Amino acid sequence: MIDGKKVLFSGMQATGNLTLGNYLGALKNWVTLSDEYECFYSVVDMHSITIRQDPAELRKRARALLTLYIAAGLDPKKNCLYYQSHVSGHAELSWILNCFTYMGELNRMTQFKDKSAKHGDNINAGLFTYPVLMAADILLYQADVVPVGVDQMQHLELTRDVAERFNNIYGDVFTIPEAYIGKVGAKIMSLQDPSKKMSKSDENPNGSIYLMDDTDTIMRKCKKAVTDSEGVILYRSEQPGVKNLIDIYSACTGKSAEDTVREFDGKGYGEFKMAVGEAVAAILKPLQEEFARLEKDKAYVDSIIKENAEKASYYASKTLRKVQKKVGFPARI
Ligand code: TYM
Repeated sequence: MIDGKKVLFSGMQATGNLTLGNYLGALKNWVTLSDEYECFYSVVDMHSITIRQDPAELRKRARALLTLYIAAGLDPKKNCLYYQSHVSGHAELSWILNCFTYMGELNRMTQFKDKSAKHGDNINAGLFTYPVLMAADILLYQADVVPVGVDQMQHLELTRDVAERFNNIYGDVFTIPEAYIGKVGAKIMSLQDPSKKMSKSDENPNGSIYLMDDTDTIMRKCKKAVTDSEGVILYRSEQPGVKNLIDIYSACTGKSAEDTVREFDGKGYGEFKMAVGEAVAAILKPLQEEFARLEKDKAYVDSIIKENAEKASYYASKTLRKVQKKVGFPARI
């Protein structure tokens, strides 16, 4: 609790171009939750280097992501928006938690398996212990709730297990966090292969809608979206392409899947795809405009970066000191 409010933590990687999946699965919910909780939203640049990055590019993308958080509607006076690498407590707690996490647990992580299959030439130890750094992110702020898409659930369960293990040994040190999964949009699939999640790292650019895509590109990608030969707009797993488009439409318009099915009853795929494209463009356009405006205001964004890193460091060091004492590190003199 901070000032009587429960704490929320979440983060996003500044790697690749952000997709509509990141927005609908995470960022959009963050904005909705930001009044209710004391929120920490991090640009997790330390996680990004588990895969080789171009330094100038990473710096640019990290700043763009932080700017995007503000553009999406997160008020930086109320929400702590900061770079993970600016708060050394993340790395320090991560080391300690490494010593309370089993190799077997990390071996089971599907994201590790996927990423090591994709980057066979660079299966580094950081990629393996990635979920421990994520646990440190969350536990450092004593977060009660963590809004994420479905793909991060396994990491969150590991976080809870490690926190409980630590608490069982040392007493109530960490708050045990709960995942918050949005009702719609928690798993947006690729437009070209609805069996795969929409991903920043997809080689086929038509599979993903990127947050900076212009309206024409969005419409073109939606028109090309893979559907089926059933010819009916129904929300069911036998029609994964159509189901995904219904999810996207519902998440963008705030309508339920049932209402969407009713709205398009008897209509063709072509018309539906146009409506999906328009709904997506309608939410991305204001975001892009606000982003362009903020990007020019360098001094303002700089001041947010500085102030919020200090705020995050303050709360992080409170937890870290407590943990260091528990495990037996000597007190500072
Ligand atoms: P990342 O950067 O891959 O994704 C950021 C958020 O977007 C969600 N997401 C999706 N949601 C719905 N449909 C999709 N197709 C889709 N693709 C991505 C993700 O679930 C995530 O919520 N490890 C994390 C970042 C992280 C983190 C944390 C998150 C680091 N520390 C602590 C929460 C708490 C990641 O790589 O997310």
